[in-house]
Amino acid sequence: MQTYYVDGQFVGASEAVIPVDDLAIMRGFGVFDLMRTLNGKPLFLRQHIQRLEDSARRIGIRLPWTQKELTGIVLDTLHRNAFKESNIRIVVTGGSSPDFITPQGKPRLLVLVTRAPSLPEAWYTDGVKIITFFSERSIPGAKSIDYVAATIALKQARDQGAIEAVYVDHTGHVLEGTTSNIFSLINGTLITPGTGILSGITRKAVLDLAAKILPVDIRDLNLGELTSANEVFITGTNKMIVPVVQVDRSSIGSGRPGQTTQTLMQALSEQIDDYYEKQNE
Ligand SMILES: Cc1ncc(COP(=O)(O)O)c(C=O)c1O
Repeated sequence: MQTYYVDGQFVGASEAVIPVDDLAIMRGFGVFDLMRTLNGKPLFLRQHIQRLEDSARRIGIRLPWTQKELTGIVLDTLHRNAFKESNIRIVVTGGSSPDFITPQGKPRLLVLVTRAPSLPEAWYTDGVKIITFFSERSIPGAKSIDYVAATIALKQARDQGAIEAVYVDHTGHVLEGTTSNIFSLINGTLITPGTGILSGITRKAVLDLAAKILPVDIRDLNLGELTSANEVFITGTNKMIVPVVQVDRSSIGSGRPGQTTQTLMQALSEQIDDYYEKQNE
């Protein structure tokens, strides 16, 4: 059985509970981060812990745990589970509140380790369809636990044979997916939005790699540009780089994963191998 860390204790997954007066339940007030393991070790652990802290700060939660303590709890929870590869969710709830709305400065920490699902190979070889969804997150820089729009959007996507929905804001700008960032290749330049998004850790790795091989422009991207782009791909911890060959009813480029996307997929996988080698030195 899985072991979770819940508010100071390690418990079996079926015993993992938090009080109903927690602001996470009453108001959707809290933040989280998701990382994955590769070769059993958390990938980009430091970056995920830092982003968790940043998300908490952006919604006014002061974390009582140091980075070192958070890292220790994550590794301890990971080692109490025996999956080959895991997803690790670190959740910081708003904590209990007697009036159900005022934070008391006592957030709860949860660490949930689950088996990492394997994704369909065809996503990477044939590309995927995504849909657009009109919405924008209220504090986009924070990985808030409020995924109401995401849950609705993803259901719509799946109902339409798509694997992801990307948010388009009220001005027609494409922002990001429900759990991914979006990139497009237009006339040889890689373009990705820079505002109104979560600063993805995979996005950052891809931007660093891309800067070495082609022009990169971090700027607003409108829907028309996205659907007429030469190549499109999405990035995220739980999927790395996934080529997109259809947005709503528009086919992208040749309808097959593009050359630049494939080059970046290869470069990212090499960079991750390199990351592990450096960790083991
Ligand atoms: C809203 C949102 N944008 C972007 C991302 C991609 O970020 P990362 O590459 O760090 O997983 C995620 C995934 O966590 C997300 O939830």
